[in-house]
Amino acid sequence: MMLRIPALLSSDEVRQCRQALAQAEWQDGRKTAGHLAVQVKSNLQLPLDSPVARGIGELILDKLGASPLFMSAALPLKVLPPRFNRYEGGGTYGNHIDNAFFNIPGTAIKVRTDVSTTVFFSDPDEYEGGELVVEDTYGHQSVKLPAGDAIVYPGTSLHRVNPVTRGTRYGSFFWTHSLVASAEQRRLLFDLDQQIQQLTVRHPDEPALSALSGTYHNLLRMWSQA
Ligand code: NI
Repeated sequence: MMLRIPALLSSDEVRQCRQALAQAEWQDGRKTAGHLAVQVKSNLQLPLDSPVARGIGELILDKLGASPLFMSAALPLKVLPPRFNRYEGGGTYGNHIDNAFFNIPGTAIKVRTDVSTTVFFSDPDEYEGGELVVEDTYGHQSVKLPAGDAIVYPGTSLHRVNPVTRGTRYGSFFWTHSLVASAEQRRLLFDLDQQIQQLTVRHPDEPALSALSGTYHNLLRMWSQA
């Protein structure tokens, strides 16, 4: 499942972040690429300990924590600090599947990359190309969203960023270790939760609501691995 989270960041927040990103010190993305990725990766990124990355990363995580849509879709257990990238002058990241685990920087804590999130910091008309293309069982989905929007997709999917042939594309991405490893099970829980939420608004006195909500939590208990 791919899920769009519209206006995760306000236009004011995007503007402030963009100012900081434009002045930050970027490095060659190949520095953190494994020997397979180094052949397909050509972009710039912020060092993991960059103060700009940390500041904006915290903002992103605060916003996501307050997003019922993200919480329902990702069911987060642990989240890695957001990373930041910049594509320009033909920069691209060819087809790949992300590593299964990353350590939280400076610790031995492993985070399984169940859910990927990309936050867009450039508007679609600021650059050409640069689509995030995600292959899923139904074919491929090409994503290019307004600045401030986020897209959430399974960490298991093959994906790429098309070459940016004009302008600059700023983005952030990070991984979430979910309570529920299986993308299919997360999808079922998300759909059930969304229907329960709608029913709660339309028919708050519906007696079946408490049973449905109980079923949701029992499925979550059965499928979660925390
Ligand atoms: Ni990737």
